[in-house]
Amino acid sequence: MSLDITALDEVGIEVHGFDISEPADEDTAATLVELFDEHGILLFRGQDVTPERQIAFSQLFGELERHPIEETRSQDHPELFTLASSPEQEQYLTAYYDGEPRVSRLDWHMDLHYTGRPNRGALLTAVVCAEEDGLTGFGDLAKAYDALDTETQALLEQIEVTYAFSMQRRHMRYVDLKGYQPGPYSPRKPSDINYPNFPEVAYPAVVTHPVTGRKVLEICEQFLERIVAPHRAGLSNDEAIELLERLVEHTRRPEFHYFHRWQPGDMVLWDNWRAMHCATGTRPGIARVIHRTTIAGDVELGRVIDA
Ligand SMILES: [Fe+2]
Repeated sequence: MSLDITALDEVGIEVHGFDISEPADEDTAATLVELFDEHGILLFRGQDVTPERQIAFSQLFGELERHPIEETRSQDHPELFTLASSPEQEQYLTAYYDGEPRVSRLDWHMDLHYTGRPNRGALLTAVVCAEEDGLTGFGDLAKAYDALDTETQALLEQIEVTYAFSMQRRHMRYVDLKGYQPGPYSPRKPSDINYPNFPEVAYPAVVTHPVTGRKVLEICEQFLERIVAPHRAGLSNDEAIELLERLVEHTRRPEFHYFHRWQPGDMVLWDNWRAMHCATGTRPGIARVIHRTTIAGDVELGRVIDA
Protein backbone atom coordinates (compact mmCIF):
# COMPACT_ATOMS: atom_id res chain seq x y z
CA MET A 1 0.00 0.00 0.00
CA SER A 2 1.21 3.48 -0.74
CA LEU A 3 0.22 5.91 1.97
CA ASP A 4 -0.20 9.66 1.67
CA ILE A 5 -0.95 12.13 4.38
CA THR A 6 -2.65 15.51 4.68
CA ALA A 7 -2.77 17.73 7.75
CA LEU A 8 -6.03 17.98 9.70
CA ASP A 9 -7.19 21.49 10.77
CA GLU A 10 -4.44 22.27 13.28
CA VAL A 11 -3.00 19.02 14.68
CA GLY A 12 -2.94 15.40 13.53
CA ILE A 13 -3.14 13.97 10.01
CA GLU A 14 -5.47 12.13 7.68
CA VAL A 15 -3.90 9.03 6.13
CA HIS A 16 -4.90 8.26 2.53
CA GLY A 17 -4.34 5.08 0.53
CA PHE A 18 -4.85 2.69 3.43
CA ASP A 19 -7.34 -0.17 3.16
CA ILE A 20 -8.12 -2.09 6.33
CA SER A 21 -9.63 -4.97 4.33
CA GLU A 22 -6.15 -5.90 3.05
CA PRO A 23 -3.52 -7.25 5.42
CA ALA A 24 -0.85 -4.59 6.00
CA ASP A 25 2.55 -5.70 4.63
CA GLU A 26 5.68 -5.10 6.70
CA ASP A 27 6.55 -1.76 5.06
CA THR A 28 3.02 -0.43 5.48
CA ALA A 29 2.93 -1.53 9.12
CA ALA A 30 6.27 0.19 9.79
CA THR A 31 5.08 3.39 8.07
CA LEU A 32 1.87 3.42 10.12
CA VAL A 33 3.83 3.11 13.37
CA GLU A 34 6.14 5.96 12.26
CA LEU A 35 3.14 8.17 11.44
CA PHE A 36 1.56 7.35 14.80
CA ASP A 37 4.76 8.33 16.65
CA GLU A 38 5.34 11.46 14.60
CA HIS A 39 1.81 12.92 14.52
CA GLY A 40 -0.07 11.37 17.48
CA ILE A 41 -3.57 11.77 15.95
CA LEU A 42 -4.42 9.79 12.78
CA LEU A 43 -7.69 9.79 10.83
CA PHE A 44 -8.60 7.16 8.23
CA ARG A 45 -11.83 7.43 6.22
CA GLY A 46 -13.94 5.06 4.15
CA GLN A 47 -12.75 1.88 5.88
CA ASP A 48 -14.74 -1.35 5.74
CA VAL A 49 -14.20 -2.18 9.41
CA THR A 50 -15.10 -5.48 11.08
CA PRO A 51 -14.24 -6.37 14.69
CA GLU A 52 -11.51 -8.78 13.50
CA ARG A 53 -9.95 -6.16 11.21
CA GLN A 54 -10.10 -3.48 13.89
CA ILE A 55 -8.35 -5.77 16.39
CA ALA A 56 -5.64 -6.83 13.88
CA PHE A 57 -5.03 -3.19 12.85
CA SER A 58 -4.79 -1.97 16.45
CA GLN A 59 -2.27 -4.71 17.27
CA LEU A 60 0.18 -3.09 14.84
CA PHE A 61 0.72 -0.43 17.53
CA GLY A 62 1.10 -2.67 20.58
CA GLU A 63 -0.55 -5.18 22.80
CA LEU A 64 -4.26 -4.62 23.37
CA GLU A 65 -5.87 -4.12 26.72
CA ARG A 66 -9.20 -5.57 27.68
CA HIS A 67 -11.71 -3.36 29.42
CA PRO A 68 -11.40 -3.73 33.24
CA ILE A 69 -15.15 -4.25 33.67
CA GLU A 70 -15.95 -7.72 32.34
CA GLU A 71 -19.65 -7.09 31.59
CA THR A 72 -18.79 -4.31 29.13
CA ARG A 73 -16.55 -6.55 26.99
CA SER A 74 -17.81 -8.00 23.76
CA GLN A 75 -18.33 -11.77 24.24
CA ASP A 76 -16.82 -12.75 20.90
CA HIS A 77 -14.10 -10.09 20.86
CA PRO A 78 -12.97 -9.25 24.39
CA GLU A 79 -10.48 -6.68 23.04
CA LEU A 80 -13.35 -4.68 21.56
CA PHE A 81 -15.30 -2.25 23.70
CA THR A 82 -18.63 -0.84 22.54
CA LEU A 83 -19.51 2.74 23.49
CA ALA A 84 -23.23 2.98 22.94
CA SER A 85 -25.66 5.75 23.66
CA SER A 86 -29.21 4.50 23.57
CA PRO A 87 -32.39 6.23 24.77
CA GLU A 88 -32.73 3.59 27.56
CA GLN A 89 -29.27 4.09 29.06
CA GLU A 90 -28.83 7.77 28.49
CA GLN A 91 -30.42 9.04 31.70
CA TYR A 92 -27.24 7.96 33.56
CA LEU A 93 -25.08 9.87 31.10
CA THR A 94 -27.14 13.07 30.99
CA ALA A 95 -26.16 16.38 32.60
CA TYR A 96 -27.31 19.96 32.02
CA TYR A 97 -25.32 22.82 30.54
CA ASP A 98 -27.05 26.23 30.67
CA GLY A 99 -30.29 24.32 31.24
CA GLU A 100 -29.86 22.14 28.12
CA PRO A 101 -29.50 18.34 28.54
CA ARG A 102 -26.37 16.75 27.03
CA VAL A 103 -25.66 13.02 26.86
CA SER A 104 -22.10 11.66 27.25
CA ARG A 105 -20.33 15.01 27.24
CA LEU A 106 -16.76 14.53 28.53
CA ASP A 107 -14.08 17.05 29.50
CA TRP A 108 -10.52 16.93 28.14
CA HIS A 109 -8.73 13.91 29.57
CA MET A 110 -6.26 11.11 28.88
CA ASP A 111 -7.51 7.56 29.38
CA LEU A 112 -6.51 5.86 32.65
CA HIS A 113 -4.48 8.96 33.52
CA TYR A 114 -5.89 8.79 37.06
CA THR A 115 -4.09 5.44 37.62
CA GLY A 116 -0.58 6.76 36.83
CA ARG A 117 -0.36 4.25 33.97
CA PRO A 118 -2.25 5.71 30.99
CA ASN A 119 -3.07 3.59 27.95
CA ARG A 120 -0.57 3.86 25.10
CA GLY A 121 -3.34 4.72 22.68
CA ALA A 122 -6.74 3.81 21.34
CA LEU A 123 -8.65 3.43 18.11
CA LEU A 124 -12.26 4.48 17.66
CA THR A 125 -14.40 3.38 14.74
CA ALA A 126 -17.86 4.71 13.96
CA VAL A 127 -20.60 2.09 13.75
CA VAL A 128 -23.70 4.26 14.18
CA CYS A 129 -23.06 8.00 13.87
CA ALA A 130 -25.04 10.86 15.35
CA GLU A 131 -26.41 12.96 12.47
CA GLU A 132 -25.38 16.13 14.19
CA ASP A 133 -22.98 16.90 17.05
CA GLY A 134 -21.42 13.99 18.98
CA LEU A 135 -17.94 15.21 18.06
CA THR A 136 -14.74 13.82 19.55
CA GLY A 137 -12.03 16.39 20.22
CA PHE A 138 -8.30 15.64 20.26
CA GLY A 139 -5.66 17.96 21.72
CA ASP A 140 -1.93 17.73 21.07
CA LEU A 141 -0.09 18.36 24.35
CA ALA A 142 3.36 18.06 22.73
CA LYS A 143 2.51 21.08 20.56
CA ALA A 144 0.98 22.78 23.61
CA TYR A 145 4.32 22.32 25.41
CA ASP A 146 6.33 23.65 22.45
CA ALA A 147 4.19 26.80 22.39
CA LEU A 148 4.93 27.75 26.02
CA ASP A 149 7.44 30.51 26.74
CA THR A 150 10.87 29.30 27.88
CA GLU A 151 10.41 30.74 31.37
CA THR A 152 7.25 28.66 31.94
CA GLN A 153 8.92 25.60 30.41
CA ALA A 154 11.82 25.94 32.89
CA LEU A 155 9.47 26.45 35.85
CA LEU A 156 7.44 23.34 34.90
CA GLU A 157 10.59 21.18 35.04
CA GLN A 158 10.51 21.67 38.84
CA ILE A 159 6.84 20.88 39.30
CA GLU A 160 4.65 17.83 39.87
CA VAL A 161 0.88 18.02 39.41
CA THR A 162 -1.72 15.68 40.89
CA TYR A 163 -4.91 14.16 39.56
CA ALA A 164 -7.74 12.97 41.80
CA PHE A 165 -10.37 10.66 40.31
CA SER A 166 -13.89 11.84 41.01
CA MET A 167 -17.35 10.74 39.84
CA GLN A 168 -18.87 14.18 40.27
CA ARG A 169 -17.95 16.80 37.75
CA ARG A 170 -18.76 19.59 40.22
CA HIS A 171 -15.88 18.31 42.41
CA MET A 172 -13.33 18.81 39.64
CA ARG A 173 -11.38 21.97 40.24
CA TYR A 174 -10.29 23.06 36.78
CA VAL A 175 -13.22 22.15 34.51
CA ASP A 176 -15.58 24.93 33.45
CA LEU A 177 -18.56 24.62 35.81
CA LYS A 178 -20.40 27.70 34.56
CA GLY A 179 -24.03 26.74 33.93
CA TYR A 180 -23.43 23.08 34.85
CA GLN A 181 -25.97 20.92 36.68
CA PRO A 182 -25.59 17.14 37.19
CA GLY A 183 -28.47 14.95 36.05
CA PRO A 184 -30.67 13.25 38.66
CA TYR A 185 -29.19 9.86 37.75
CA SER A 186 -25.54 10.93 37.51
CA PRO A 187 -23.37 8.55 39.60
CA ARG A 188 -22.21 10.08 42.90
CA LYS A 189 -19.28 7.85 43.90
CA PRO A 190 -17.02 5.31 42.12
CA SER A 191 -18.72 2.32 43.74
CA ASP A 192 -22.02 3.36 42.04
CA ILE A 193 -20.51 2.04 38.78
CA ASN A 194 -18.32 -0.69 40.35
CA TYR A 195 -15.16 1.39 40.20
CA PRO A 196 -12.51 1.13 42.94
CA ASN A 197 -11.55 4.02 45.20
CA PHE A 198 -8.60 5.35 43.16
CA PRO A 199 -5.83 7.10 45.13
CA GLU A 200 -4.45 10.48 44.02
CA VAL A 201 -1.58 10.31 41.50
CA ALA A 202 1.24 12.75 40.71
CA TYR A 203 2.90 13.44 37.35
CA PRO A 204 5.82 15.62 36.33
CA ALA A 205 4.19 18.72 34.78
CA VAL A 206 6.26 17.89 31.71
CA VAL A 207 6.54 14.23 30.77
CA THR A 208 9.16 13.04 28.28
CA HIS A 209 7.38 10.70 25.88
CA PRO A 210 8.89 7.23 26.43
CA VAL A 211 8.97 6.39 22.70
CA THR A 212 9.54 9.66 20.87
CA GLY A 213 11.43 11.63 23.54
CA ARG A 214 9.18 14.67 22.91
CA LYS A 215 8.15 16.79 25.84
CA VAL A 216 4.45 16.66 26.63
CA LEU A 217 2.60 19.18 28.80
CA GLU A 218 0.96 16.84 31.32
CA ILE A 219 -2.02 19.10 31.95
CA CYS A 220 -5.59 18.13 31.17
CA GLU A 221 -8.50 19.62 33.01
CA GLN A 222 -10.44 16.51 34.08
CA PHE A 223 -9.41 15.40 37.60
CA LEU A 224 -6.58 17.98 37.77
CA GLU A 225 -6.13 18.72 41.47
CA ARG A 226 -3.03 20.63 42.63
CA ILE A 227 0.72 21.27 42.42
CA VAL A 228 2.72 19.18 44.90
CA ALA A 229 4.55 21.34 47.48
CA PRO A 230 4.55 24.53 45.34
CA HIS A 231 6.88 26.34 47.79
CA ARG A 232 9.73 24.12 46.58
CA ALA A 233 9.47 25.81 43.18
CA GLY A 234 9.22 29.23 44.85
CA LEU A 235 5.44 29.49 44.37
CA SER A 236 2.84 30.52 46.90
CA ASN A 237 -0.34 28.43 47.00
CA ASP A 238 -2.18 31.25 45.22
CA GLU A 239 0.45 31.39 42.49
CA ALA A 240 0.26 27.60 42.12
CA ILE A 241 -3.51 27.74 41.53
CA GLU A 242 -3.13 30.64 39.10
CA LEU A 243 -0.43 28.72 37.21
CA LEU A 244 -2.72 25.70 36.79
CA GLU A 245 -5.56 27.98 35.65
CA ARG A 246 -3.23 29.55 33.09
CA LEU A 247 -1.99 26.15 31.86
CA VAL A 248 -5.53 24.78 31.51
CA GLU A 249 -6.48 27.91 29.52
CA HIS A 250 -3.42 27.28 27.34
CA THR A 251 -4.52 23.67 26.57
CA ARG A 252 -7.96 25.03 25.54
CA ARG A 253 -6.47 27.05 22.68
CA PRO A 254 -8.04 25.87 19.39
CA GLU A 255 -4.65 25.74 17.64
CA PHE A 256 -3.86 22.52 19.58
CA HIS A 257 -7.21 20.87 18.76
CA TYR A 258 -8.89 18.74 16.13
CA PHE A 259 -12.63 18.01 16.49
CA HIS A 260 -13.84 15.02 14.54
CA ARG A 261 -17.37 14.86 13.16
CA TRP A 262 -18.05 11.15 12.61
CA GLN A 263 -19.11 9.48 9.36
CA PRO A 264 -19.54 5.75 8.77
CA GLY A 265 -16.20 4.13 7.91
CA ASP A 266 -14.12 6.65 9.91
CA MET A 267 -11.35 5.47 12.24
CA VAL A 268 -9.33 7.69 14.56
CA LEU A 269 -6.19 6.47 16.29
CA TRP A 270 -4.46 8.55 18.94
CA ASP A 271 -1.37 8.45 21.12
CA ASN A 272 -2.76 8.69 24.66
CA TRP A 273 0.72 9.51 26.02
CA ARG A 274 0.66 12.71 24.00
CA ALA A 275 -2.91 13.66 23.07
CA MET A 276 -5.86 14.44 25.32
CA HIS A 277 -9.41 13.97 24.05
CA CYS A 278 -12.95 15.06 24.89
CA ALA A 279 -16.52 14.46 23.73
CA THR A 280 -19.07 17.17 22.97
CA GLY A 281 -21.98 14.77 23.65
CA THR A 282 -25.36 14.81 21.96
CA ARG A 283 -28.91 15.93 22.61
CA PRO A 284 -31.02 13.17 24.23
CA GLY A 285 -32.64 10.54 22.03
CA ILE A 286 -29.72 10.14 19.61
CA ALA A 287 -28.45 6.60 19.01
CA ARG A 288 -24.68 6.24 18.67
CA VAL A 289 -22.36 3.25 18.58
CA ILE A 290 -18.58 3.45 18.55
CA HIS A 291 -16.20 0.50 18.69
CA ARG A 292 -13.05 1.03 20.62
CA THR A 293 -9.82 -0.92 20.90
CA THR A 294 -7.19 0.09 23.44
CA ILE A 295 -3.41 -0.26 23.21
CA ALA A 296 -2.04 -1.09 26.66
CA GLY A 297 0.31 1.31 28.44
CA ASP A 298 3.43 -0.49 29.59
CA VAL A 299 5.08 2.45 31.37
CA GLU A 300 4.23 4.11 34.67
CA LEU A 301 4.21 7.83 33.79
CA GLY A 302 2.81 8.99 37.12
CA ARG A 303 3.17 7.85 40.69
CA VAL A 304 0.49 6.93 43.19
CA ILE A 305 0.51 9.14 46.28
CA ASP A 306 0.12 6.70 49.13
CA ALA A 307 1.21 8.65 52.17
FE1 LIG B 1 -11.57 8.74 27.04
